[in-house]
Amino acid sequence: MPAVMENARPLRAKSLPQKYFISTEIFTKEQAAIFSKQWLLVGHQSQIPKSGDYFVVDLAGESLIITRDQRSTIRGFYNVCRHRGTRLKEDAGGHATAIQCPYHAWTYGLDGRLVGAPHMDELAGFDKADYSLKAVNLGIWEGFIFVNLSDNPTPLEKWFAPLARKFSEWNMSILRAAKRIEYDVRANWKLMFENYSECYHCPGVHPQLQKVSPYDSAENDLTEGPFLGGFMKMNAGKSLTMSGNACALPVGKIDNLHHVFYYSIFPNMLLSLHPEYVMVHQLRPQSPGRTLIICDWFFHPDAFDRQDFRPNDAIEFWDMTNKQDWHMCELSQEGIASRAYEPGPFSSRESIPAAWDRYYIEQME
Ligand code: FES
Ligand SMILES: [Fe+2]
Repeated sequence: MPAVMENARPLRAKSLPQKYFISTEIFTKEQAAIFSKQWLLVGHQSQIPKSGDYFVVDLAGESLIITRDQRSTIRGFYNVCRHRGTRLKEDAGGHATAIQCPYHAWTYGLDGRLVGAPHMDELAGFDKADYSLKAVNLGIWEGFIFVNLSDNPTPLEKWFAPLARKFSEWNMSILRAAKRIEYDVRANWKLMFENYSECYHCPGVHPQLQKVSPYDSAENDLTEGPFLGGFMKMNAGKSLTMSGNACALPVGKIDNLHHVFYYSIFPNMLLSLHPEYVMVHQLRPQSPGRTLIICDWFFHPDAFDRQDFRPNDAIEFWDMTNKQDWHMCELSQEGIASRAYEPGPFSSRESIPAAWDRYYIEQME
């Protein structure tokens, strides 16, 4: 038997069939089977540091208001008035003492309680207590805010139990974002997960990244299930920044300064852990062929006031790398939509995209 045959692996795993990237029915099914059932990333607690702060998030066909109430508890509500259903908040976020409906001025506290409803006390039997805003299940993991639209979700702590203490070195609950960039990408959301999950494409697509972090240094430590990924080497003394130098204080007592860690958290979070910053992508599928990607760069709060704080060094590096990736995802979307497309074989360096697809298919079945 020729040596090449001995070493060859069977061509088991292939990319997904076309319908998963272009079909409206599949997209609708994903909304029901995945986005209406799983814990979804919507933000970080540092976005609403003070009582009265709030932001609005549109995800999975719903609009939600995430608030920090007067007791400093973070809560989530459907952005739907209990009077006649009107959208309450049109803005992206801010600070408020109450949430007032623009239509007939019903007013809600930041804890969701109805506190004012003009003329409704003239109605026998009307009790404000019956008309609080509808709450959405909400939980905090490592400082990140997650919501779950299902009636009886797996408790957040149980869902994330396999990752307990895995990321404690990075101090994620206390970090603060220096920058947010939103990308409107003309590609299916699964293409971003598949793209994020391999560095087979890195030599050609990311010449700058490849110089600092060799594509063949990737090792995976989470290889099956909803949480997938591993780490790659960074050349000695180097950082993933435009200059190649560290751009801030380390985010914590990081033991390993020569690795960058990449994990995907099903179904809408990508977590990239560097010694001095944490980058998080949040995916919000809009249609089979369009995805909104929100990218935040988090740093240690003490880093911000220091002379050596150069966040743009990291932001520019990843903004460039992100755009290189999204361009590939858009080209993939175009090709996959062709009648010539058929699923192709994953390489030995694409075991994580293959595992991601397996988990995705399980959720859809
Ligand atoms: S619909 Fe909101 S107050 Fe009437
Ligand atoms: Fe990439």
